[in-house]
Amino acid sequence: MSNKDGKEAYIESLFSSIAPKYDLLNSVLSLTRHKAWRRFAVSKSGVKPGGKALDVCCGTGDFAFELARRVGSAGSVVGVDFSVPMIEIAKEKAARKGFDNVEFAAGNACTLPFEDDSFDCATVGFGLRNVADLPKALSEMTRVVRPGGRVINLEISHVRLPLLRPLWKFWFYFLTPRTASFFRAGRNAYEYLPDSVKAFMSREELAEQMTASGLVDVHYYDLMFGAVCVHIGTKP
Ligand SMILES: C[S@@+](CC[C@H](N)C(=O)[O-])C[C@H]1O[C@@H](n2cnc3c(N)ncnc32)[C@H](O)[C@@H]1O
Repeated sequence: MSNKDGKEAYIESLFSSIAPKYDLLNSVLSLTRHKAWRRFAVSKSGVKPGGKALDVCCGTGDFAFELARRVGSAGSVVGVDFSVPMIEIAKEKAARKGFDNVEFAAGNACTLPFEDDSFDCATVGFGLRNVADLPKALSEMTRVVRPGGRVINLEISHVRLPLLRPLWKFWFYFLTPRTASFFRAGRNAYEYLPDSVKAFMSREELAEQMTASGLVDVHYYDLMFGAVCVHIGTKP
């Protein structure tokens, strides 16, 4: 088994194990701000009513639902994730919320099961950090977007304001695993979260990686003083 296969198996089982508590912990740990971050990212997607959007590493579907609101009933959204328990929750939520323009499918970000140029935009939220082969996932997202379409990444980053950094570190490294433990969501999984953010590339390196995958006009927006970052690139 390669390192890549090992990481994929680990990540898949980690997210599958926390799936039932994922939404609750997202809301608690982000103080419910995660919804506004997704809305902001979708507002930069360039996708219009009637459009066709893809959400990669869709988890329990919240990014896909935000895209679905934007494309409306004449449009369509597909969410892809390799964790079946996450996808099952996304499907239940779609039925409960009455979204009939969203479909969810099990699949790997590194081998997307779609034709070239199929979507008006492709988004990924808090996903690339977890993907075993990030350049491959980015080039797959670029491949399936039509020329002129955008690839959007929403990800946790590093607070820029030096004064706020100690508070952010306390929240992220100390409180996050303990909060997860309090909610019985699996402390180990939420120890992985800050570790994975620490190990992830900088916003500048990610922008370079997006350019390397063939995107142009790559730029990013910092939210919450840089704790969260939205990267955008366009397929030429
Ligand atoms: C932190 S969750 C993010 C879920 C969702 N995008 C959101 O905004 O809440 C990361 C998701 O990425 C998925 N994932 C990680 N690597 C993947 C891969 N190679 N292919 C498909 N899904 C992957 C995990 O199963 C998990 O559901």
